[in-house]
Amino acid sequence: MPSRMWTLDILLLTLAGLAAKGSCAAAPDFHELVARGIISDSELQSSYDYVIAGGGLAGLVIASRLTEDPQPLHPPAGTYYTSIVGTDYDWKHVTEPQPDLNNRVVGWPRGKILGGSSAMNAMYLVRPAREEMDAWQEIIAPNGDSAAAARWGWDNMFENMKKSENFTAPTQEVLSVVDIKFDASTHGSGGPMQISYPAIQINIQANWTSSLAAAGVAELPNPNGGVTLGGFITPSSINPTNWTRSYSRSAYIDPHIARSNLHILPEATVVRVVLSDDTDRSGNYYAQAVEFARDAESPRQTVGVRREAVLAGGALGSPKILMHSGVGPRDVLEPSSVSVKVELPGVGQHLQDHMTAGVVWETPFETAGNIHDSNSDFARSAEFMSFINDAIAFANISALFNGPGTEFQQEIIAATDDSVQNLVPSTSSEVRAGYRAIYELTANRFFPDVAQLEMLMSVISPGVVSIQSAIQHPYSQGRAYINSSNPFDPIVIDPQYYSHFADLVLMRQGVKLVRQVGIAFGETFGTETSPGPEVQTDEQLDEWLVNSAASTQFHPTGSCAMLPQNLGGVVDANLRVYGLANVRVADSAVFPFEFAAHLASATFGVAEQASELLRQDFYTVPSSGASSGKIPALSLSFSIAIAFGIAVLTALPLI
Ligand SMILES: Cc1cc2nc3c(=O)[nH]c(=O)nc-3n(C[C@H](O)[C@H](O)[C@H](O)COP(=O)(O)OP(=O)(O)OC[C@H]3O[C@@H](n4cnc5c(N)ncnc54)[C@H](O)[C@@H]3O)c2cc1C
Ligand SMILES: *[C@@H]1O[C@H](CO)[C@@H](O)[C@H](O)[C@H]1NC(C)=O
Ligand SMILES: *[C@@H]1O[C@H](CO)[C@@H](O)[C@H](O)[C@H]1NC(C)=O
Ligand SMILES: *[C@@H]1O[C@H](CO)[C@@H](O)[C@H](O)[C@H]1NC(C)=O
Ligand SMILES: *[C@@H]1O[C@H](CO)[C@@H](O)[C@H](O)[C@H]1NC(C)=O
Ligand SMILES: *[C@@H]1O[C@H](CO)[C@@H](O)[C@H](O)[C@H]1NC(C)=O
Repeated sequence: MPSRMWTLDILLLTLAGLAAKGSCAAAPDFHELVARGIISDSELQSSYDYVIAGGGLAGLVIASRLTEDPQPLHPPAGTYYTSIVGTDYDWKHVTEPQPDLNNRVVGWPRGKILGGSSAMNAMYLVRPAREEMDAWQEIIAPNGDSAAAARWGWDNMFENMKKSENFTAPTQEVLSVVDIKFDASTHGSGGPMQISYPAIQINIQANWTSSLAAAGVAELPNPNGGVTLGGFITPSSINPTNWTRSYSRSAYIDPHIARSNLHILPEATVVRVVLSDDTDRSGNYYAQAVEFARDAESPRQTVGVRREAVLAGGALGSPKILMHSGVGPRDVLEPSSVSVKVELPGVGQHLQDHMTAGVVWETPFETAGNIHDSNSDFARSAEFMSFINDAIAFANISALFNGPGTEFQQEIIAATDDSVQNLVPSTSSEVRAGYRAIYELTANRFFPDVAQLEMLMSVISPGVVSIQSAIQHPYSQGRAYINSSNPFDPIVIDPQYYSHFADLVLMRQGVKLVRQVGIAFGETFGTETSPGPEVQTDEQLDEWLVNSAASTQFHPTGSCAMLPQNLGGVVDANLRVYGLANVRVADSAVFPFEFAAHLASATFGVAEQASELLRQDFYTVPSSGASSGKIPALSLSFSIAIAFGIAVLTALPLI
């Protein structure tokens, strides 16, 4: 068994969110984490074989998978009632003012904590559809010529996603309130992430699938198995043994207290990857070190990379690190006074997000919010506090347009050239070609039968129920970019929301469909309070969406897209950054286009696949290392660094 032949140490360098402001008292988890291999600066080794930037969802999966061989956010409902969104554990990003949202700015929370956004997310466990993942495989290998590309198609990604899971069916008590349909075979068993349902259900949810069906959206009896269309109660990342949040830290790190090869260094922001002066024989630069610092004022430190650097900073963190390393669009780097090492115009481009807006009704029925407000013993129980919104549905074009939507599709197709010309925030012909490829895929292959809209019911506010309308395949793309050489300045985020007309039309149709579902709920829903009965015409609905209602569903992606280089790609089918011999991106930045799904499950799939690739390649000497002699061939040690977090993983000698 080759995996027994080596061992591996990990060091995670994490950001301020972990031990807030350097005070252990402010971070109740600090001592616990010390026991898990958290180290101080002085214990840092001078170099590691692998350096991973980002100890979030994906980063911890990789860290854990690579070390397993040798061997407040906890109550789910805390997501609503004691959310860490907006606290020191949140990056608190905001977009640029959005011209097509009446110049509104939109907050983009992201977890600044061990576990990343999986420590603050809403725990919906939802997979993309088979067609979407198969389209990913095709777009990265347009001629069907790559075995590597097959890793990203549905069949393989389904296995990767399931590998992270341990599914537990809903309790009989829950089923007696809501007849939840599920198929255990669409989930994994024995994996680290606990996937289950809350301990309790709210009565209103019993009418979810029947109301949807009355509005033309049938019930989906076996969600998460490759088909997404229809209504269902989706599982959440809940640990049913103690009704707590299951996230990348609790699942992949905490159980491994005794792993002597896991080191975590808190309060470290990765500022850049230090690249070699010269290239290897294939013309690729290679990472020599990862530079990090406690804050803008503190001295920079470096940790050597003996084999690979893995960026797992998420859809904003990873492109930012690349750009500060001199890898990115020339017209972004030069004005920021960052010298261009590898001109890669796609870094930060192809930025896509899901937008959502909620219709709200008063309800005479009890919601979770009413129970919470009652402050009863039950309201404080772990069972009640495990309740998290989970009633969702995915609808196709026919459901939105009461027909095949052919006319709408023709309008979109007719606008292709104009959109490529005017809506892409890049002068690069590659990036424009990539936009066109994604556009054509969305307008043809994803029309009419791939899900276009997600509906989500919320029953967590007292006295009201809401149903969100969220577009899933936007035609608007934007970018994230740096505008200074200081890595502690925030990344500039411009998703160009609603820059393409189709997105607003899809959302408006979505709101109409949501209202049909509301009508089907009958007397369970009282008066509509937002946008309110007076908002009826298309113009009124658009005004409401643009001026106030439309916001983010928290699913940015595309900023380090896995696309061919001539389509403005950043990584190849092995997750390797073009132009770099030993740097990969492995997180939610790599999806080339949005899926009709929340992104955590697919990101777990990416991270599991990345772990597999890194392990496989451990046994083959990187060509760059072999030819340049600058990266030592595999010898007696193996190590990794991740930054949050950074984790630095270092290897112990073979014998
Ligand atoms: C409020 C919210 C609700 C959501 N709800 C859901 C949901 O219900 N279901 C679902 O499937 N998805 C949901 N998501 C999305 C999902 O959580 C993310 O897609 C997923 O966590 C992305 O994983 P990641 O590893 O790419 O990034 P992250 O999990 O964000 O991890 C990135 C990590 O890298 C760190 N980092 C970044 N830059 C640096 C740097 N320079 N140096 C060191 N460390 C760095 C960050 O601090 C973070 O720890 C939600 C997201 C949010 C924000
Ligand atoms: C998976 O969940 C079951 C409960 O359904 C539990 O008994 C088992 O210990 C879990 N396995 C893992 C690996 O977490
Ligand atoms: C809501 O669901 C309950 C239980 O399934 C059912 O008895 C009731 O008729 C439903 N109400 C409506 C309006 O569909
Ligand atoms: C599209 O949605 C409609 C209405 O929800 C449904 O009848 C139809 O079967 C769906 N199409 C596909 C291919 O699932
Ligand atoms: C919940 O139980 C798991 C084991 O199943 C454990 O690892 C975790 O720490 C527990 N969470 C809390 C907050 O107690
Ligand atoms: C970078 O962009 C942000 C957001 O628009 C702006 O506030 C800031 O002043 C810009 N910085 C520089 C150096 O131009």
